[in-house]
Amino acid sequence: MPTYCIIGANRGLGLEFVRQLVASPDNTIIATVRPDADRADLLEISSPTTYIVECDTSSVPSVHIFSNTVARNVLSGADGPSTTKIDFLIVNAGVNGSPRDEDSLMLNPVLLSEQIAVNVVGPAKVLEFLMDRKALSPSVRVLNMSSSLGSMELSAQMSPRVCVGYSITKAALNMLTVHQGHDLRARGLSKAVVIAMDPGWVKTRMGGESAPIEAKDSIAGMLKVLHGLKEDDNVSFFGSDGKPRPW
Ligand SMILES: NC(=O)c1ccc[n+]([C@@H]2O[C@H](COP(=O)([O-])OP(=O)(O)OC[C@H]3O[C@@H](n4cnc5c(N)ncnc54)[C@H](OP(=O)(O)O)[C@@H]3O)[C@@H](O)[C@H]2O)c1
Repeated sequence: MPTYCIIGANRGLGLEFVRQLVASPDNTIIATVRPDADRADLLEISSPTTYIVECDTSSVPSVHIFSNTVARNVLSGADGPSTTKIDFLIVNAGVNGSPRDEDSLMLNPVLLSEQIAVNVVGPAKVLEFLMDRKALSPSVRVLNMSSSLGSMELSAQMSPRVCVGYSITKAALNMLTVHQGHDLRARGLSKAVVIAMDPGWVKTRMGGESAPIEAKDSIAGMLKVLHGLKEDDNVSFFGSDGKPRPW
């Protein structure tokens, strides 16, 4: 009876995670949406064990309320320590607010800050607050949704370089992943595994219509990676094809 938590689940890759996970009635699924988000598609596919909880990852108070709600109302059903824990945490919510042709000599500070809030601070606080609420299984698998654009090595070879601000935030998310993998274990989750994931270039609102990969194929690949993770995989960067990506 595994419990999954998918952050940013009303559309795109997050919605497809839910679609594939509800196929197994044993799965408990916590699916997050922003308060004002259109959740019609998510409601349509939800199973009786799918719990929709509001969370705006750009707002630290919202992430705090979300983690309290999950611990009290979903995992334990009452105040007090959680009796059920999250086995798989998929931190998927992300924004790409960078103009495609932006370069590092014309970075828009407002856009960069907005992307850091969602792509870096949000994932940090989601894990921190769920850990504080003792909501994570000792062998929790955490997937931070990164991008090939977050890879130093791949970016150095890329031509032309695109979406510079976004790529900086995904590189920061990769570094966060490295720290989280060590820190969860240091705080007692001795079998926790934290990874960064490159989903590929996928047809979603963010990826656009010309993306070569269908969401169903990317998600099937990522779930295979997630379910196959070993303890030694802690602090790794994978693609949805299961192959390691360079940091
Ligand atoms: N598609 C690709 O080719 C591609 C490639 C590399 C990496 N990625 C990464 O994969 C993840 C999912 O991307 P996608 O393609 O599915 O993008 P998408 O179609 O734009 O969906 C983004 C999701 O993130 C949610 N979100 C955005 N800001 C949020 C916030 N402040 N709080 C909570 N949720 C928020 C959105 O909710 P709303 O509906 O409320 O906005 C939506 O559910 C992102 O992290 C993205 O960077 C995607």
